Amino acid sequence: MEIVITATPAAAGALGADVVTRLLGDNPEAVLGLATGSSPLLMYRELIARCDAGTVSFSRVTAFLLDEYVGLSADHPQAYRRFIEREFTSQINLVPSALHGPDSSIESRRELPTAGTRYEAQITRAGGVDLQILGIGGDGHIAFNEPASSLASRTRIKSLTERTRADNARFFGGDIDAVPRHVLTQGVGTILNARHLVLIATGESKADPIARAVEGPVTSMTPASALQLHRHVTIIIDEAAASALVNASYYRENYANKPSWQPY
Ligand code: F6R
Repeated sequence: MEIVITATPAAAGALGADVVTRLLGDNPEAVLGLATGSSPLLMYRELIARCDAGTVSFSRVTAFLLDEYVGLSADHPQAYRRFIEREFTSQINLVPSALHGPDSSIESRRELPTAGTRYEAQITRAGGVDLQILGIGGDGHIAFNEPASSLASRTRIKSLTERTRADNARFFGGDIDAVPRHVLTQGVGTILNARHLVLIATGESKADPIARAVEGPVTSMTPASALQLHRHVTIIIDEAAASALVNASYYRENYANKPSWQPY
């Protein structure tokens, strides 16, 4: 696990964009896993700027979303597919049909019981995810794998905790009752199948879950701690999100002395 502590959220976003840019330079047909929510937005903005400048291209990329609310209409502004299109993919040169997300809209409710298995098959057919972008929830979730999620889980329906619904109410006009209770989410096991995991977290509210995920025991009570089992993980955090890490100075020293030949 490589832990990089940046001075600012913008620097975290720029570094995340560097990792994506390098991958697409080496493999223009890479499969990207995209997270929604606030954490990757600065990285997405940086990638949009680089795409405009011609320094990165998504024209041959395939992308998969981590998760989706159950029961919103497909065109609801807070449906994660709409969110990522608005904030990122409509502003880069990704082919619209190359964007995939779990299908759990109200319109597809009859197919919901098999939606998880079908989504897993789609990811497999694409050759698996090369680089998965992740955020982390205040309760330690990755994607929407809430505490006590099996660390071997695959894409399936989960119930959100009260805490996550309260955290996400800001996207629904502050109304927790408007936040769906259920989601269709990649499992922890699905995420661990990606070849490189890049988790971005900024701000003080992420300090505790980051400390538990990086330095705590591997436990389903902190689903993000399962990243410790993966052999290629990059954690990009700002100073505020790093503030509860016991070994922060060790991570800073490692990064300051990172050899130029060593990739992320
Ligand atoms: C979103 C997702 C979630 C978020 C997490 C943090 O697709 O999978 O795990 O990454 O809830 O959300 P923000 O970034 O809004 O704090």
